[in-house]
Amino acid sequence: MDIYLASGNAHKVQEFNTLLATVDPRISSKVRILSAAEVGGMPKVVEDAGSFLGNARKKAVALAELLPPGGWALSDDSGLSVDALKGAPGVESAYYAGPQGDSAANLRKLMAAMAGVDEAHRGANFSCVLCLATKGREPLFFRGRCDGRIAFQAAGKGGFGYDPVFIPDGFAQSFAELGEEQKNKLSHRAKAWSQLSAWLLRIYG
Ligand code: IMP
Repeated sequence: MDIYLASGNAHKVQEFNTLLATVDPRISSKVRILSAAEVGGMPKVVEDAGSFLGNARKKAVALAELLPPGGWALSDDSGLSVDALKGAPGVESAYYAGPQGDSAANLRKLMAAMAGVDEAHRGANFSCVLCLATKGREPLFFRGRCDGRIAFQAAGKGGFGYDPVFIPDGFAQSFAELGEEQKNKLSHRAKAWSQLSAWLLRIYG
């Protein structure tokens, strides 16, 4: 089964390949994760559905249309929802500080918005919806969520996006400090992936 990632984000391609390497060999031996670049690149999709699920659906269906017969498109729509900010940045996570999608500017805007918010009100969660689509079938969805809190200061060099300021429940360090291996055990994307791999196991196991 060839799964093409409906994303232009090289970091996501890397994270999914790392996740695939950790699953049951009955799946990893039959599944290949390929980049959308293999079929000419990810088509432009306006992410205006207003929900992670709606945006994930748009991206996977758009790429599925371009794939060779039997090819599957996998999209990921994810983001950070902060309780004290009424769920913001949410579906706007990538473009919180403006359309250029600058991660450092997004982080600065988040930390400014959270200035003065006390420890007890810094709850947040990362959510991820994966959508698997192929031509002629209704798309499938797999979800994951990771609860935690927003740190008072950014810390750590690993990961991407909001990783330096998100501290998952049960830990004292940010995702960026915990590193990829630990993050891949508890992240929203890892949880959604584990739902997807359970589905793959039912099909190929
Ligand atoms: P998407 O590519 O439209 O799904 O946008 C997701 C955005 O949410 C990214 O650009 C990041 O800003 C943020 N995000 C999603 N997942 C993570 C993560 O695992 N770590 C840090 N930031 C994330």
